[in-house]
Amino acid sequence: MSLLSQINTERLPHHIAIIMDGNGRWAKNKGLLRNIGHKNGAKTVKEVVETCAKIDIKYLTLYAFSNENWNRPKLEVELLMKLLISSLKKEVKTLQKNNIKLTTIGNINSLPTKVANELKDVVTKTKDNKRLTLTLALSYGSREELIKTVKEISLKVKNNLISPENIDKSVINNHLYNQNLPDVDLLIRTSGEQRISNFLLWEIAYAELFFTRTLWPDFNKENLFEAILNYQNRERRFGKTSEQLK
Ligand code: IPE
Ligand code: IPE
Ligand code: MG
Repeated sequence: MSLLSQINTERLPHHIAIIMDGNGRWAKNKGLLRNIGHKNGAKTVKEVVETCAKIDIKYLTLYAFSNENWNRPKLEVELLMKLLISSLKKEVKTLQKNNIKLTTIGNINSLPTKVANELKDVVTKTKDNKRLTLTLALSYGSREELIKTVKEISLKVKNNLISPENIDKSVINNHLYNQNLPDVDLLIRTSGEQRISNFLLWEIAYAELFFTRTLWPDFNKENLFEAILNYQNRERRFGKTSEQLK
């Protein structure tokens, strides 16, 4: 039986987030430059995005470039930015065809102007699409996002626009980069690393974590189905007992 046919379509994760890791090692293993790893990683992005749309996942969030990644060699950062521009230009048609809306999280203004403009263009063009919301985390760091949130809320408290006792989960949500991003149900990280690397700390509070040794350029739709099946075999108790859920 194929993996896809085993997936219970009634119990799909609403929001999948992926830490796409291992491009560099993939290239190194083949004696290639890291950049070739990133190019092949972009092919995986296309396959995973199209597959998520096809099977009716509603939210997919991809960690594409972290705040910390600015510390990589200048040339690698430049090539990643170029790859981002060319992928956006190339794939806007695919997004339209599949009814996919592109959104971003992160400090978008810190990206090179060309990248920021290309992003804004695709975000505008796809804003009315409904099937899947694809969010790219770019120049993203979760702690920086939380600092921004605290600053904005403090200012509102200072100006008597909100009182401290009214600060709750929804107030925090409303000050994140994207106020409409739901909690993550399934977080996948490729390449064998088992860490969060400053990604979506607020939204993954109750996410199921799936780690695979597969390097991102080798990850394909079968690996995605495997992760979803693994997720569907877990019991999400949210603090309750197993008996209470029955
Ligand atoms: C993930 O692959 C892509 C980005 C972080 C941009 P890496 O480039 O981190 O690959 P490894 O971890 O060095 O193998
Ligand atoms: C996390 O991968 C960031 C992205 C996938 C964009 P890294 O490869 O940068 O993470 P660390 O530094 O190994 O934790
Ligand atoms: Mg890495």
